[in-house]
Amino acid sequence: MDLPYRPRRLRRSEAFREMVAETSVKPADFIYPLFVHEGSEVQPISAMPGINRWSIDSLLGEVSRAWDLGIRCVVLFPKVSDSLKTEDGKECFNPEGLIPRAIRRLKKELPQMTVMTDVALDPYSCDGHDGIVSSEGVVLNDETVEYLCRQAVVQAQSGADLIGPSDMMDGRVGAIRDALDEEGFEDVGIISYTAKYSSAYYGPFREALDSAPRETTAKPIPKDKSTYQMDPANSREAITEAQLDEQEGADILMVKPGLAYLDIIHGLRKESNLPIAAYNVSGEYSMVKAASERGWIDEKSVVLETLLCFRRAGADLILTYHACDAAEWLAKG
Ligand code: PBG
Repeated sequence: MDLPYRPRRLRRSEAFREMVAETSVKPADFIYPLFVHEGSEVQPISAMPGINRWSIDSLLGEVSRAWDLGIRCVVLFPKVSDSLKTEDGKECFNPEGLIPRAIRRLKKELPQMTVMTDVALDPYSCDGHDGIVSSEGVVLNDETVEYLCRQAVVQAQSGADLIGPSDMMDGRVGAIRDALDEEGFEDVGIISYTAKYSSAYYGPFREALDSAPRETTAKPIPKDKSTYQMDPANSREAITEAQLDEQEGADILMVKPGLAYLDIIHGLRKESNLPIAAYNVSGEYSMVKAASERGWIDEKSVVLETLLCFRRAGADLILTYHACDAAEWLAKG
């Protein structure tokens, strides 16, 4: 054939392929999510093989392993005991709570690691919602934002570097920014869960924290989070959320879940000059683990391909439970 252009020329050798690769992924692109509990044992999470609930002591070992692998940021999620859960979730701003204690220990022993937090009420609420539920079963916006601000300030006081509001209340980024600044935490950043969808992919995470919405009192409880998390049908709305978060002072914008939402990552990348993060969520992790345990897919290849594709779609950062495994595979080449 008489072809002036043969794209295969540049795919002929490993060397050519490396030379013309448009995208790459490295351990410092990862943010590693970790679950913490009050107990002293390390508890495996059955729906997420390889992922555990750590005690504060054992957490230190895992975080220093991550650092040695080149990971530069961890995000902490608490499994709070039922006896501390209330309708308003006020345990979220207890300075002696699990997360503030874990942050203080981490920043004392491993000050170089960037510590990100989650801001939302669900791990602390007996109703399992990210906000306060009224007696009529409505998730209250403005009342919740006051609590989130207090939670963020306590996290910053404990040493957190990056505050991650995952609640999807309106106006929370600006309110948290003001609250942090008022307390002298101008240097503490906000990574906003900007486009967080109401998704079934969070199932294993809710098992890990025992935090799914549930009725424990007489009032009606919405069975899902669709009055505050976004509708998977929508993409223009993600741009609106991004514009609002940017105006309100977010430092990093996040899209969640990741894999079924690569178009949203791409859209935000074009819309904003801020760094974009993607959350490769629990359900996405569990699907890969389940299929690889059955021998149906090759875990290492699928994980590294997936992470690369997040970068290609426009994500600068990827929150992923695969972080340590992927960092090890990348180091071995
Ligand atoms: C809670 C929160 C959730 C996740 C992160 N923060 C669950 C939810 O919104 O119900 C999900 C993370 C994952 O599935 O890996 N505010």
